[in-house]
Amino acid sequence: MKGDRGYEIGRIDRDWIEEAAAPLHPALAAIEAAAEPAGIPILDRESGRVLAVLAAGRRRICEVGTAYGYSTLWMALAQDPGGSIVTIDPDRARTDLARGFWRQAGIAIGRITVVNAPALEAFSAADPALAGPFDLVFIDAIKGEYHAYLEALVPRLVHGALVVADNVLWSGRVAGARAADPDDESATALRAFDRALLRDRRFEATILPVGDGLLVAAYRG
Ligand SMILES: C[S@@+](CC[C@H](N)C(=O)[O-])C[C@H]1O[C@@H](n2cnc3c(N)ncnc32)[C@H](O)[C@@H]1O
Repeated sequence: MKGDRGYEIGRIDRDWIEEAAAPLHPALAAIEAAAEPAGIPILDRESGRVLAVLAAGRRRICEVGTAYGYSTLWMALAQDPGGSIVTIDPDRARTDLARGFWRQAGIAIGRITVVNAPALEAFSAADPALAGPFDLVFIDAIKGEYHAYLEALVPRLVHGALVVADNVLWSGRVAGARAADPDDESATALRAFDRALLRDRRFEATILPVGDGLLVAAYRG
């Protein structure tokens, strides 16, 4: 949708925002440099900046999908030092690397708890680290499981908690800007997840057209 002067925000505006923003923390730059050649999908930098704003002032955060800890670190750097994050990823090799980057950024040991298990198993195993309550959750793992992550997390949310989910536009394949492969189950699942959450009366929700699409929802419960 265009602004009232008929102008559509584009690449030049995005580059200007990046140039005007605070310089990237070296540990975040190091993760970007490590993830790219290894083919590890991480959050877009502009989505990282949004996530940091949403994490500021949040005390207890739960993340689904750690990888090299890029999104985790955006949140940890923005959160008060007294806050905590629990992040879930079954891939221990990735989370071991993530710990090194968090150390490099000076994040206190103990502020971030890693759960190395598939998220749905971890939630149903009643791991005390995942008991909550959480005031922000960030979802960025298996696209077909987003809805199940959300339902597992709802009982652990405080009133006003934010739910943030990445890749919800799936590079144009959710809205149809790009053709989705008929067997692209992620596109189908994300489209259903988006539609359900945008109309879910338990939440006030929208999708920010940044990065690969960032869904943001505030819990009314
Ligand atoms: C897109 S990456 C996460 C990127 C990370 N949030 C970032 O921006 O830096 C998705 C991660 O989900 C992890 N994953 C795969 N299956 C999972 C599951 N069942 N539960 C939790 N995480 C899972 C993968 O190992 C992978 O590292």
